[in-house]
Amino acid sequence: MKKMAIVLAAGQGKRMKSKLYKVLHPVCGTPMVQHVLDMVQEAGCERSVVIVGHGAEMVQSVLGDKAEFVLQAEQLGTGHAVLQSRELLEGEAGTTIVICGDTPLVSKETVLAMLALHESSAAAATVLTAELPDPTGYGRVIRGEGGEVEKIVEHKDCNPQEAAVREINTGTYCFDNQKLFAALAKVTNSNAQGEYYLTDVIGILQQQGDIIQAYCTPDADEAIGVNDRVALAEAERSMRARIMKRHLLNGVTIIDPAATYIESSVVIGADSVIYPGTVLRGATSLGEDCVIGPHADITDTGIADGSIIHHSMLKGAQIGSRCTIGPYANLRPGSVLGDGCKIGDFVELKNATLGDGSKVSHLSYVGDAVVGKDVNIGCGAITVNYDGYNKFKTEIGDGAFIGSNVNLIAPVRVGDGAYVVAGSTITHDVPDSDLAIARERQVNKPGYADKIRSRAKAKKERQN
Ligand code: UD1
Ligand code: CA
Repeated sequence: MKKMAIVLAAGQGKRMKSKLYKVLHPVCGTPMVQHVLDMVQEAGCERSVVIVGHGAEMVQSVLGDKAEFVLQAEQLGTGHAVLQSRELLEGEAGTTIVICGDTPLVSKETVLAMLALHESSAAAATVLTAELPDPTGYGRVIRGEGGEVEKIVEHKDCNPQEAAVREINTGTYCFDNQKLFAALAKVTNSNAQGEYYLTDVIGILQQQGDIIQAYCTPDADEAIGVNDRVALAEAERSMRARIMKRHLLNGVTIIDPAATYIESSVVIGADSVIYPGTVLRGATSLGEDCVIGPHADITDTGIADGSIIHHSMLKGAQIGSRCTIGPYANLRPGSVLGDGCKIGDFVELKNATLGDGSKVSHLSYVGDAVVGKDVNIGCGAITVNYDGYNKFKTEIGDGAFIGSNVNLIAPVRVGDGAYVVAGSTITHDVPDSDLAIARERQVNKPGYADKIRSRAKAKKERQN
């Protein structure tokens, strides 16, 4: 049967007390509504319609062309929100999943189980429910004597008996598409909040003799609907635990999952070991056998097999295999390392490519540079790439040796196999295999140290 999805994302989310629209708040690095949209698409929905209102443009630009969008200009309730997609979807035959943009933990597995129950029982509607120790704030699932679902009653409309029910509506449903739109036309706003509730569709269908099913998820965390920052923090905790479990089961060692932060988009190869205090974000991917942390902050970076990174910050970098980085290195965007490179303490790289086996072991800045293979850049050497207005490029050929405390004033090229003597300030290109020295010659004055010392001592005594 054809599957479609409607994602509700038009609300402002007043209880978040935020300038950011609710459904755009990230959970483990990904906006909530993005989690929801990705999930329904992975579950096989051919069309997905997102209902937007508050922050419509921003929500649309975050989700891009992966969905169709309908504007709900005024937020008159979840039923009214779904109704906005009537023109787009009314003609379709099939199953429509309706889901809220603020329930990022509903999983694909659960939705597929709900769909299977829905289709096998020829239901008009199936509600995804959960049993919560504290159901406050959620709509309650009211069942008849035979256990069949009769209706959903919103928290604010509950009588004491209904309020005591702990089975709640997660806000995710499967509907027979045609029956959904027919029933929506009958929903009114005579309730505590004066809103058109989507949940009333359940009672309407039940009244007209249709089959209503409920699929109760065993994982109550899936029900978390993020209305405020307390729930946001809970959602974050729960999703983080889920991400950790996925990596652990994939063969990654995470020494202390509670002290590690990994965003949902991150990929990690087997036998990599992650030490505490590590933050892995965005489009970061690690190969196998890497050792990361303690205390690595890595964003949008690719790291090949067997590299070791500790106490360092990497953003927008590409690291080859068997590299060692840190402690205290800062790799900024455009840092590209070949295999077997070494970047040591207090080294900053930016927009710099290093060939295989090159080393920058201590206290250097290498920016806007192309460095060949097996180059050694000594302690304190820097590329002088900026005149306050323009950036200039430094090139260093294969096998070159840059001594300690060298300034390479860009634009400049040091040839293959060249040798730059420590303390030099290089302003001209150095040809292949040449040695460059650019510093004052040393002069030793015999016995002069003692002379200076006694002169200084005498001066001090005169003053006393
Ligand atoms: C809703 C359900 C409740 C359920 C809970 C689960 C209704 C009436 N209630 O309550 O039974 O237990 O979710 O989390 O459906 N939205 C729109 N347009 C609107 C109103 C809301 O797009 O006019 C969107 C919101 O952006 C949000 C979602 O619908 O993403 C749910 O709305 P919200 O106000 O959070 O509903 P709840 O009170 O949480
Ligand atoms: Ca909600």
